[in-house]
This record gives sequence, C-alpha cells and structure tokens, in this order.
Amino acid sequence: MSLIRKKNISNMLARRNTGDSLSRVLGPLDLTLLGIGAIIGTGIFVLTGTGAVIAGPALTMSFVIAAIACCFAALAYAEFSSTIPVAGSIYTYSYATLGELAAWIIGWDLMLEYGLATSAVSVGWSGYLQSLLSGFGITLPHALTAAPGTVPGCATWFNLPAFLVMMAVTLLLSIGVRESARVNNVMVSIKVAVVLLVITVGVFHVRPAHWHPFMPMGWAGVFGAAAVMFFAFIGFDSVSSAAEEVKNPERDLPIGIIASLAVCATLYMAVAAVVTGIVPYSEFANVSHPVSYVLKRIGVDWVAGLVDLGAVLGMLTVILVMMYGQTRIIFAMSRDGLLPAPLSRVHPRFQTPLITTWLVGIFFALIGALVPLDLLAELTNIGTLAAFSMVSIAVLILRRTHPALPRAFRCPGVPLVPICAVASCFFLMAHLRTITWVSFMTWLALGLTVYFSYSRQHSKLALNPEHG
Ligand code: ALA
Repeated sequence: MSLIRKKNISNMLARRNTGDSLSRVLGPLDLTLLGIGAIIGTGIFVLTGTGAVIAGPALTMSFVIAAIACCFAALAYAEFSSTIPVAGSIYTYSYATLGELAAWIIGWDLMLEYGLATSAVSVGWSGYLQSLLSGFGITLPHALTAAPGTVPGCATWFNLPAFLVMMAVTLLLSIGVRESARVNNVMVSIKVAVVLLVITVGVFHVRPAHWHPFMPMGWAGVFGAAAVMFFAFIGFDSVSSAAEEVKNPERDLPIGIIASLAVCATLYMAVAAVVTGIVPYSEFANVSHPVSYVLKRIGVDWVAGLVDLGAVLGMLTVILVMMYGQTRIIFAMSRDGLLPAPLSRVHPRFQTPLITTWLVGIFFALIGALVPLDLLAELTNIGTLAAFSMVSIAVLILRRTHPALPRAFRCPGVPLVPICAVASCFFLMAHLRTITWVSFMTWLALGLTVYFSYSRQHSKLALNPEHG
C-alpha cells in the first residue's frame, strides 16, 4: 500500500497560502512569454532540416500531427495546473492522484526531459553561434566545436560553446526568477520577430515545384518526422511548473499554456512550408543551421545574419525556461523527502534553490558538450511523451476520485480527449529508434533502484501522513 500513498489535495492547497513557498510574481503575459520562450528553439531552427530529410515537404503535416498530440495533452495539463497550483508540475499532480511510486517515476522522467532538453538546445545554440561568428570571419578550433564523433572526417572533442552557454544560464537562474522572467520577455520578442522575418522574406522565394512530390517517403516519413519534430513543441508544460509563483493560477495558467502552443504551431507550419519551398528538401542533409541556410541560398545574407543572431538569443530563453522547470521539480521532490534535503534549500538572499541550480547546470552542460544532438532530442521526446500520457491518465483518475474539487479550467470532452492524448503520445513514441527506447528504459530502471533504496524510506509522507 505504501507505493500508492497519496498526498492530500486540501493540505497542498492550504499550504500554498502559508509562508513555506516561493514568491508569487508571474502574471498571464509573463506565462505566455515563458511558454513561447520554452517552445521556439532548436526544434524549429535546427531540427527542421532533419525533419525535412525524413518527411520531405510533408514536414508541415508532421508539425500538424505533433501539434495535435500536444493539444490533447495541453488540455489535460491545463485542468491539472489550474486545480493544484503548486511547484513541481505533473510530479505533484500525480502524487495526489496516482500515488507515490507513480509520482516518483514521473518526477524521474521529467528530470530526463527537462535536463536533456537543455543539453540538446545548448548544442543547437552552439551551431548557430558558430554560423554567426563565421559571418565575421571567426572560426573556433575544430576540436572544441562539437561532441566526439559527430562531424564526419573531423576530430572533435568537446562542444565548448554549448558548455559555456549552460554555465551562463545557470548563473542567471541562480540569482532569481524575477530577473530571469524579465530577460526572457525581451528575448522572446526578438525570437518571434526573427521567425516572422524568415516567413515574410522567404515566402517570395518559394518555388511550388519543390513541394512535389509532397510525401516522397510516404506516411512512414510523415510520422517519423512528427516523432522527432515533437521536440519543437516541448516546453509549454513548463508553464505549469511555475504554478507556485503565479499570482492568479486559476485563470492565468490555462491562458499561458494554450496561447503559447497556438502561437508556436502557426509559426512552425509557415516556416516549414517556406523552407521546403525555397530549396529541395534533400539539401538539408547535414545542415546544422537550416533556416539561415535557405536565406543564404537566396542571397539575402543580411537576413541570414539576423536569423543567426535571433536564434542565438532565442535558444538562450529555451535553456533558461527548461532549466528553471527542472530545478523546481527537483525542489519539489526534495521537499517531499524523495531526494536529499539540501536540494530544496532556498538561498536566503536570492530566494532560489541555489545548490540544485548549480548541480543541474554543471551536469547537463557536460552532457550537451559530449553527446550528439539527435540522440538528445529523441530521448527528450520519449521522456516527455511518457509524461504526457501519465498526466492524461491522471486527469481521468482525478475526475473520479475528486469530482467536486473546484477546477478553474475543465478539460473538454472527458474521457475522449485524455484518451486521444494517451493514444497519440504512444503513437509518436512507437516511431522513435530502438536506441532511444533502450536508453529510456535504462534511465527508468535506475530511477526505480534509487526509489527502493533511498526515497521510499525518506518520504515525508511515509514519516508523517499529514505531510502535503
Ligand atoms: N521546443 C524546444 C526547442 O525546440 C525544446 O528548442
């Protein structure tokens, strides 16, 4: 029975009004920008090339499929995040609904998602920085430009720019959320402006002949690309991780999640149509900066330079929001006793979990410097898809176990929408590579070992059933 011990939802809500929490400073616009900041990044700027090679011009359809899966899950997310607004995202929600073991698995899974996402984006950032610097005639020593074995015919050792950007973001986050949110708002505006620039300049150079054949690899290509491009949408869930720091979560959280998802889906489809219309899709093989590449191909180098700059700034915000989400999940798990207590210590001056922030920053900076991007992106996807499935199941359970709980936002079409969310997440997972599945299962096995050898005995809920 101890494996399904659950937190008391009323205690959790009551606790929110006591002093034992993070400061509440974020509003709906902050949240929408936080979401867009997390969403637009390496997915659209780098993986678009990978996706185009897999699906051809039908990449636009892959984006639609991935967006539909996210939309189902977003609706479930919004119901939960507006009902139980406490730090820790779906880890916390599942502790109250599915019990401790499931919550642990989800929390452990989210650590993989957010952590590897920061590493993956730092690699994409490094590629665009190098493209930007090359415009000024600056090249870095080859050995320090990429992870070992990622550039055919070139001895690379360590991705130094990826490592350094992670350290810079760690520093920013460790000095406080208020500063970070303000920086994020400025950078998101720049990023959206750059994406709109790509669309408006590129659209006049589209040759519809490049869209034929539209589906050169058939449906298998479309679905395979959807499973990879799902990465481009990851991040809207991090809005819900900020719940404990939101002024009016009942209203603002659903707005933040849905608005940021809708804006990004529209932009992505337009970008995919434009880039596959400018050059034949097969040209994108081995291009690490596909969006600025097409602009250079049509001879507008100054726009390409602006895109490089915007991508460099834009991806910075993704790392920021993802790392933020991760530190808050570890914070929540530690506060519950499932991870060691120092991880939830709040720094008296900066009001941030300083130790957790630096540990996470250094660890995932090393991963980004040493592991190839495609593996990082796929692993992030499988972790996220698993988490989305679990939250969709949890929304169904909570409707049964706590039907009267006030919900500021109700997921429409229950049980159909959560069931569609689970089905679409599993469908995308099925299109990921075997190595991704094996790595993911290994991570889960490690998590269960930690749970049964440490967390289960140290759980505050086990020591005091009133803990919530
Ligand atoms: N959606 C984020 C990106 O594409 C993770 O970079």
